[in-house]
Amino acid sequence: MTNSDLLYSQIPIERIDSIGHQTLLQEFQEVGEAFLREFKIRCNLLPNSSFMDIGCGIGRLAIPLTDYLDATGRYEGFDITPENIKWCQHHITTCRSNFSFQVADIFNHRYNPKGRYPAREYLFPYQENTFDVACAASVFTHLLAEDSEHYLSEITRVLKPDGYFLGTYFLLNEPSVKALKEQKSSQPFFHEIKNCWVIDPQIPEAAVAYDEAFIAEIYRKAGLEIKEIHYGLWSGREPTVYGGYQDMIIAKK
Ligand SMILES: C[S@@+](CC[C@H](N)C(=O)[O-])C[C@H]1O[C@@H](n2cnc3c(N)ncnc32)[C@H](O)[C@@H]1O
Repeated sequence: MTNSDLLYSQIPIERIDSIGHQTLLQEFQEVGEAFLREFKIRCNLLPNSSFMDIGCGIGRLAIPLTDYLDATGRYEGFDITPENIKWCQHHITTCRSNFSFQVADIFNHRYNPKGRYPAREYLFPYQENTFDVACAASVFTHLLAEDSEHYLSEITRVLKPDGYFLGTYFLLNEPSVKALKEQKSSQPFFHEIKNCWVIDPQIPEAAVAYDEAFIAEIYRKAGLEIKEIHYGLWSGREPTVYGGYQDMIIAKK
């Protein structure tokens, strides 16, 4: 039995729902494995790489990585939901000591309404130039614009020179806006709040979309060069080889 087989057999199914619309264990596993393929192919992730998982949730990306990163590799995850971090520490760190998880007590209407600090002030708890690869899977889709700008500058700070960042988004561009107007999109982003678009202004972080041009600009300001963009299925597009739900950006420091 591999590390990941054991971990999948222990995962509390009821908490998987907390990561979004993926409710089935099989889908949880398939999405985690698909991300691992992207890290290997597009971000040059190697068994001895150091990896940062922003908003790591209940280990959807960490679990498949337990079979790929070896003892010389390093995994660091943080999230604002303490229960998920506790689960990861108890089940993953205990069998792979080079996998660490930390709680960030950050306010978010949806995920941590009692959080104390705004994301825009949070300094990632890592040294400069630490990571080969960083990822934020379905996290910038829950951050408002100032928070996103700040997180990108933190990502650049902690990435090694030439390090990769994979982030997922709901990107607004000509085809996705057309789909929204024609009600062919699965996410109705009709409320604008300071450089981003949300579905529900009462719980803005429930789902957040950005103009693609704004994202390109804040990547440039942060010192990240966009290498690839792959569009996902959320906006009603036809499936591509990528096949993910959200749009995916691969960038390099
Ligand atoms: C849809 S879930 C995705 C979880 C995980 N990345 C995955 O792919 O399974 C969004 C996650 O972002 C976390 N999150 C929200 N705001 C955050 C912030 N400011 N910093 C770090 N994590 C955050 C939530 O707690 C939640 O675990």
